[in-house]
Amino acid sequence: MEFKLLDKDFKIPVLGLGTWGMGGFMETDSSSDEESIRAIKDAINIGYTHIDTAEVYGAGHTEELIGKAIKDLDRSKLIITSKVFKTNLKYDDVITSCKKSLEKLQTNYIDLYLIHAPNPKISLEETMKAMDYLIEQKLVRFIGVSNFSVNEMKEAQRYSKNKIIANQIPYNLATRNNDYKGNCTNMESEIIPYCQENDIIIIACRPIERGLLLEPNPVLDELSKKYNKTKAQIAINWLISKKGIITIPKSTNIEHLKENLCSVGWNLSIEDIKLLDETKFENPSS
Ligand SMILES: NC(=O)c1ccc[n+]([C@@H]2O[C@H](COP(=O)([O-])OP(=O)(O)OC[C@H]3O[C@@H](n4cnc5c(N)ncnc54)[C@H](OP(=O)(O)O)[C@@H]3O)[C@@H](O)[C@H]2O)c1
Repeated sequence: MEFKLLDKDFKIPVLGLGTWGMGGFMETDSSSDEESIRAIKDAINIGYTHIDTAEVYGAGHTEELIGKAIKDLDRSKLIITSKVFKTNLKYDDVITSCKKSLEKLQTNYIDLYLIHAPNPKISLEETMKAMDYLIEQKLVRFIGVSNFSVNEMKEAQRYSKNKIIANQIPYNLATRNNDYKGNCTNMESEIIPYCQENDIIIIACRPIERGLLLEPNPVLDELSKKYNKTKAQIAINWLISKKGIITIPKSTNIEHLKENLCSVGWNLSIEDIKLLDETKFENPSS
């Protein structure tokens, strides 16, 4: 697996495992627990080491499933990212959320803890003080943000003693500048260049736009034939060809997990990256 440097002491693989939907989306759904636990274990067995989750996924149940999947494994070989939800950003709430996540994940530290989304109703200074506390207490190794604009990243950094090392954003071939929900804008024009200049890793979530990028598209269809790779693999390889970008496709299907892993270890040509850069894909927002 290829890595990108997060910090001099911490490398993160270019491809990790997303988990939103395992154990439910915004509510708990226990109907596929065995399948989800199996998928997480399978993913780790075939080489995934970074698992992305959040306290809000499955209303907490996703973290429980990850905890069950990893409890007998060598924790030091895994990188766990979790996120505190935007309604829990007051000082005490951040700490309580983190401790609950640790319990569910059956671990005593989270590698990368992110603020899931900004919340203008809660003082960011208060949130960042709590994030610093979590690092001091060694409950968290590194901190970051998600869906933050450049100004929000700068403000968060001003209030924190620790470097914000990542911003997770819904960037892919289709979304480019604007997440279809309008939660994250100016990704390509502002956020990514700022992160690249300031050594902040960009974690591109929704790399295949939940399947939308697998729909017929003349450019992706052509490149898929040319490279003998699937469209998911082309879309993922395009993301990780960019400086500072890593990604986290979600799958509970072993064939998809293997397929996504094989997005790594080869390169689209510079001309084809440019072709994809210049291709307009259907964005659900347009
Ligand atoms: N920070 C945020 O606000 C935020 C927002 C959204 C997502 N995320 C994170 O990013 C992760 C990824 O995003 P996502 O799950 O929304 O979308 P995604 O990874 O773009 O797409 C996941 C969907 O694509 C399918 N899939 C995966 N690989 C495939 C392949 N090779 N061929 C065909 N289908 C494939 C999966 O189904 P199968 O399971 O059947 O393979 C699933 O339905 C999330 O799970 C979550 O961890 C974060």
